[in-house]
Amino acid sequence: METNTSIPEDLKLAVLERIKPTEAERKKLTAVQEELAEKVRAASEKLCVPDIFVKMVGSAARGTWLSGTHDIDVFISFPEETPRRELEIRGMKIAREVAKHAEYAEDRHAEHPYLNIIYKGFDVDLVPCFRVASACQLKSAVDRTPFHNEFVKARIKGHEDEVLLMKQFMRGGGVYGSELRTQGFSGYLTELLIIYYGSFENSVKAASSWKPGKKIDIMQHSEMEHTEPLVIVDPTDPRRNVAAALSLNKFCMFIDHCREFLKNPELKFFFPASPLPLEDREILEKLEIRKSSQFAIVFETPDVVDDVLYPQLYKMEQAAASLLNEYDFSVIKTGVWSGKPETVIMLELISGTLPNVKKRIGPPVWVREHAEKFKAKYEGAENVFGGYIEDGKYVYEIRRKYPTAKGLLEELLVNSSLGKQVHQSVSEGFEVVENAEICRLKDPDFRVFLRKWV
Ligand code: UTP
Ligand code: MN
Repeated sequence: METNTSIPEDLKLAVLERIKPTEAERKKLTAVQEELAEKVRAASEKLCVPDIFVKMVGSAARGTWLSGTHDIDVFISFPEETPRRELEIRGMKIAREVAKHAEYAEDRHAEHPYLNIIYKGFDVDLVPCFRVASACQLKSAVDRTPFHNEFVKARIKGHEDEVLLMKQFMRGGGVYGSELRTQGFSGYLTELLIIYYGSFENSVKAASSWKPGKKIDIMQHSEMEHTEPLVIVDPTDPRRNVAAALSLNKFCMFIDHCREFLKNPELKFFFPASPLPLEDREILEKLEIRKSSQFAIVFETPDVVDDVLYPQLYKMEQAAASLLNEYDFSVIKTGVWSGKPETVIMLELISGTLPNVKKRIGPPVWVREHAEKFKAKYEGAENVFGGYIEDGKYVYEIRRKYPTAKGLLEELLVNSSLGKQVHQSVSEGFEVVENAEICRLKDPDFRVFLRKWV
């Protein structure tokens, strides 16, 4: 049985060699963290905001960051009774003061504003938060983070490598990241898995037989009913599911990744080969072999952050598919690719054209009133080819309004339910590119997407 085999030690070492920060990298990170803390304290003194604490949180503060990822999360915590407005104004003032020493700064917004800066090459978030007594008394979603930090720090010592292996393994499987674009596993979630199962290997073995509805409650403090595929009750807040952002597909992709890996534990599950862009010639070959119809809806990428953009793109993908289905087209699959300056919604259909004739089935002949009305409407009318009785019902063959998918999309897509910024961009103009014309879209990253698509 595969569950009894173990993952070769030398494989883990080979992975760690590539992802574990070196001593020099660690020293650099610690030094930068200390500098930033000092800068925050200095700024608070200068601006006469004395009662704040500086807290380093996130993977950088826990020794669970992957080499080469350089993000530092600095929390500026204010007394709980600080009015929200005050916290925002003073927090941002302190952050802007620190940003004077940065290479780059950008205002960002979650539940309340924070500042993202590039400082000595590190990607740093300066986040104001409330110093609440416990995570369940949070006043803002970010208030939980310092509690996560304490919980993990107290339990992860000696298991950091296991977390690194899990993060890289999830990256390799395309399921790491809890942003709305990915809908996968967050860093904190991987740490909780390692704490619960004890090791990377145990986690992978256990996950191989997960089913939707799987619940892990480390503190055994939640009786809540959930509908999400995976429920990891936050040890610091019984009401919170740490895996709330995980989609059913990413949950299942992870299960599959674990099973395949255990059958054949190899480096490629951590570091998959990066696919090459699909060339024009290959696009034409694929079209010829598949004999389906490919459509690319192309429009200008709205200038909004990914967490706003992607939910709207996924919504549009759904809207386009339902529109096509509603008008008798058979959708094989749909996909989203977004770059600069363009975004593409891809659709593969059984066929992009339908016959001009469409069958309209009416009521049974014996339901007299309805049946007669139906007959009167179609008999001898324009755009009606003819009628007959089938299975006791009146049937008329009428002329189809949208015999091509392209025509349908061009006419009705803008009227379907779209998110605000996507709707705006699509209203300003879009193009439906069909089959071989797709060769016109040259972005190499889009061509990589196409290779996985076909
Ligand atoms: P990060 O997204 O930077 O994650 O959020 P991380 O744990 O540092 O992992 P990597 O290594 O960068 O990928 C920082 C902290 O914010 C909270 C967690 O406490 C996390 O450690 N957080 C973030 C959440 O609770 N949920 C999320 O979806 C994201
Ligand atoms: Mn981080």
